[in-house]
Amino acid sequence: MRKVNVFDTTLRDGEQAPGVNFNFDEKMQIASQLERLGVDIIEAGFPASSNGSFESVKNIADTVKGSSVTGLSRTVTKDIDTAWEALKGGEEPRLHIFIGTSPIHMEHKLRMTPEQVIENSVEAVKHAKKKFPHVQWSAEDACRSDLDFLVKIIEKVIDAGAEVINLPDTVGYVTQDEIRRLFRYIKENVPNSDKAILSTHCHDDLGMATANSLAALEAGAGQVEGTINGIGERAGNASLEEIAVALKIRNDYYKAETGLTLNEIKRTSTMISKLSGMMVPSNKAVVGDNAFAHESGIHQDGVLKNSSTYEIITPDLVGVNANRMVLGKLSGLHAFKNKIESLGYQASEEELKKVFKEFKSLADKKSEITDEDIMALMSEEKAGESVSYYEVQTLQVNYGTTNIPTATVTLKNPDGETIQDAATGSGSVEAVYQTIERMIGGHADLKDYRIQSITGGRDALAEVYVLMDYEGEEVSGRGTANDVLEASARAYINAINRALNYQDGRDLQAEKVNV
Ligand code: KIV
Ligand code: ZN
Repeated sequence: MRKVNVFDTTLRDGEQAPGVNFNFDEKMQIASQLERLGVDIIEAGFPASSNGSFESVKNIADTVKGSSVTGLSRTVTKDIDTAWEALKGGEEPRLHIFIGTSPIHMEHKLRMTPEQVIENSVEAVKHAKKKFPHVQWSAEDACRSDLDFLVKIIEKVIDAGAEVINLPDTVGYVTQDEIRRLFRYIKENVPNSDKAILSTHCHDDLGMATANSLAALEAGAGQVEGTINGIGERAGNASLEEIAVALKIRNDYYKAETGLTLNEIKRTSTMISKLSGMMVPSNKAVVGDNAFAHESGIHQDGVLKNSSTYEIITPDLVGVNANRMVLGKLSGLHAFKNKIESLGYQASEEELKKVFKEFKSLADKKSEITDEDIMALMSEEKAGESVSYYEVQTLQVNYGTTNIPTATVTLKNPDGETIQDAATGSGSVEAVYQTIERMIGGHADLKDYRIQSITGGRDALAEVYVLMDYEGEEVSGRGTANDVLEASARAYINAINRALNYQDGRDLQAEKVNV
């Protein structure tokens, strides 16, 4: 069975999805989970793009040991040198250099001739090789590039030291047949192609990213790139979980496998969904809530008789329902600590005590606390970590179908004082948000508000995600509570706290720069 390397770019290309902005702690949390999942390479960011990106790439490179950490770079000496400073502490420093190679990109974006693109790439790879043991070079928009130009430039960058050649379908344009032909052509016509691994990186504009990635693997690619849940710019990237599971289930056909720990997939997907605020559609392959649900009587009957009648993937394979030890109000701190560690979280004593208190108060209201509830509590704790300017203390909302909704909110302000105010709105959530805005000052423009329940049941936790523009900062926030209005207030405060944090320069992640 051929081993395919998995290159995860959730933290770089995935973060380019509109409205997604992971903070420093969240990036670290995601990188640790990707390491547990067993990805070979983590693209942690674009170090030269901002101080925030530099710091988080450095932190990830210095900490993660089980996966190789890489960062993106243009064919620019300053980018390469900055990336080295961020990545040099890693176990296996790796650089990812990219430049556009299609006529459209060279002419209109780069304003460079094909010869200049070759020269730039060769110089950049040579410079990178003086520092990095591993260098990957990407031909951005490769799938709309001239084949013979690709052959020429690839031969030269391999000679210069690139050991991975990535051929992205940057705009999600190709068909399976075309991508197969591209990979075969490069393999057969680049004289030194045996000295490099070919990599595939597909976008999902036409809904073909998974199929195209698999087609490229069939044609000899040795590395596949993508993101968890397929998050990314526009329609997103190829979903790594879909590709890994397709290779597993159809190994009779593809005769290739990844090194992923497949039963970490569901947990990774849930984490990315929570931290990105991008909910996973119920019908999404592999990780959607309905992926293993059988509704029709005929299907249910078949599955009960023999699950293989309608189920090609077992829930256990991807970690659905795995280790679902339910906690309740009698569970103690020890069991709780074990549970959060088994879910992949590291918590300080102080965090542990705080979340345990939240857990106890939830257990008074909800009979069974599931893994997902605990992940929600933990991720809210992590979301608030180092960003606690304001805190919601109490909330009272007066709503009736015929009166004007009024909210009274008590907050703890950054000086530790308790402040209180009340305001009205056209609905309960608006009343809460008007009140908070008046108390804090500044203008918050709410761009998105989403609510979902964690697990089923009438006593389920509510999780609210907001995206807002607060005083020129685009920020997201999350809040979890038994009550939807309390969750809404917490999400709003969390977003404002993050914006204030960015303004103070305590978290540099606000400077998100898309490639
Ligand atoms: O889609 C793309 O071409 C990219 C490159 C930067 C590799 O993300
Ligand atoms: Zn991309």
